[in-house]
Amino acid sequence: MRIILLGAPGVGKGTQAQFICQAYGIPQISTGDMLRQAIKDQTPLGLKVKGVMDRGDLVTDEIIIDLVKERLSAPDCQSGFLFDGFPRTIPQAESLREAGIEIDHVVEINLSDQKIIDRLSGRRVHPGSGRIYHLVFQPPKHEGVDDETGEPLVQREDDLEETIKERLRVYHAQTAPLIDFYKTEMQAVDSGYGVVEGEGTTEQIQVAIQKLLSEPGE
Ligand code: AP5
Repeated sequence: MRIILLGAPGVGKGTQAQFICQAYGIPQISTGDMLRQAIKDQTPLGLKVKGVMDRGDLVTDEIIIDLVKERLSAPDCQSGFLFDGFPRTIPQAESLREAGIEIDHVVEINLSDQKIIDRLSGRRVHPGSGRIYHLVFQPPKHEGVDDETGEPLVQREDDLEETIKERLRVYHAQTAPLIDFYKTEMQAVDSGYGVVEGEGTTEQIQVAIQKLLSEPGE
């Protein structure tokens, strides 16, 4: 199963990706997580992208396309994968098409900008595993620490309110055009494009996504 999760920052892509990847036994390819790991490891890539990410802008297509191509060559991607946060621009989507990489399902998650701001400003993450929490909506069992390891949770640098607004602006300008791109693309190859509402409990959204993934096409 080869899936793209499409949607604005904070609609719940990472949260749902964790469920879907477990259910289908496929790896989650989150370009955001890969870039944050590079920053943490202080690699040349990490040093190059840190300022861009902290501002809420997009990393260049060239860097992202190389990163994804390399990741896709790993053996665990042979039976499928889930893209979370990629593609994010038309040139990134075209690079997949040019490389002959077929997609079975595109799932768009839809949520208002105000709800997104509420969610992202309360988000906390466990850097080691990528587990995602929310101060109000998905609190950890014990305040400030990860449920499984007991290690501290952190706030992402780009989850400050002004940066969230910039990320939303960038999303509407550069990523939202992918909605029409993939509606057309998926119809042409008779594959599935579906929309789920991002409001509701994580379990309700998970059920809606599973329903879409079990029926090809709309
Ligand atoms: P990236 O890491 O991809 O971030 P994003 O797309 O902005 O998405 P988020 O991780 O912020 O949100 P999400 O949709 O995964 O929501 P989550 O599940 O965490 O990108 C970061 C940066 O990297 C970019 O700005 C860019 O600079 C760079 N980058 C990455 N990929 C790139 C690319 N392809 N091209 C160029 N640059 C790239 O949920 C959010 C919160 O809501 C959490 O607290 C969660 O607990 C809570 N929540 C989730 N579901 C629910 C629910 N149903 N009800 C209540 N709360 C919920």
